[in-house]
Amino acid sequence: MEFNIYESSRDVFLDTVNTKDYIQLDRVSNIYQSLKDSITKPLKMILLYGKPGTGKSMFLTKLHDSLLSSHAAHLYSTPILDESEFFKTLAQDLYGMEYSGELNFTQFMKVVNNKELNGPVIPLILLDEAQLYSSSMMEKIRLLSDTRKVKFIIALHKTEKEDLIAKEHFQTRIWESIKLENASTTELMIYIQKKLMKANCLDTANMFSIKSINLIHKITDGNYRDTNKLMYTLFDIYLHYQQNNPNQINGSQVSNKIIEMSAIHTGLINA
Ligand SMILES: Nc1ncnc2c1ncn2[C@@H]1O[C@H](COP(=O)(O)OP(=O)(O)O)[C@@H](O)[C@H]1O
Ligand SMILES: [Mg+2]
Repeated sequence: MEFNIYESSRDVFLDTVNTKDYIQLDRVSNIYQSLKDSITKPLKMILLYGKPGTGKSMFLTKLHDSLLSSHAAHLYSTPILDESEFFKTLAQDLYGMEYSGELNFTQFMKVVNNKELNGPVIPLILLDEAQLYSSSMMEKIRLLSDTRKVKFIIALHKTEKEDLIAKEHFQTRIWESIKLENASTTELMIYIQKKLMKANCLDTANMFSIKSINLIHKITDGNYRDTNKLMYTLFDIYLHYQQNNPNQINGSQVSNKIIEMSAIHTGLINA
């Protein structure tokens, strides 16, 4: 297949969570290190929170991949909302136990209490989209953590329920909480350039001056998901010009007009 720079650049910004696309950002690396330290502390549930599109799923997936060599770690990307299914999945993942019937919390607690830890390392369960769990389920998860035989890392975005969870458990000793934020302008520049460079799109990586990054930041507020949308559309527009009106585009410097056009197209600003 022929390499088309705009097409390849566009596809760099498909909104997918894949650790091979992970970009190391300074602020996130620091968080990452402090989280890795927390994992070894006893009696801590870890809460990862932040607005949608701040990189929680990416972070959790990356963490999961890198923990696998040293820990038993299981990532639940989609919440298992049925309680019996949830405990059955835990029993399977933690102890390799299969249940055909129901498994309720009390029964599962008995199983956990009867199990000895396999060495000094507590197995980890990483729960993404945890705002979808009920508060009674969250309470059970907390009680499970209290056994110190399993540790949960919980990612959620802010909803009213999070406030509730926060109220009840946030300040207590079981939580270590970590907040992910939108990118600063500098981080956004690194994000965009590194992403493109990773895909060998050096020419387009060089199209973005600080000025154009400032404009993109103004539109997306540094939100990674919104930035992906904007950038995808931007290169799609470039691709379109290249194929239909190549004289109208300048490939050395991104045009503010096309940035704005992309923002309107994706609904990030109103026409
Ligand atoms: N560190 C990162 N490296 C590469 N891409 C990232 C990174 N953080 C976020 N992204 C991109 O941003 C998108 C949104 O991130 P995601 O983890 O899904 O956010 P959240 O779970 O907070 O809603 C991802 O699909 C991914 O493309
Ligand atoms: Mg997510």
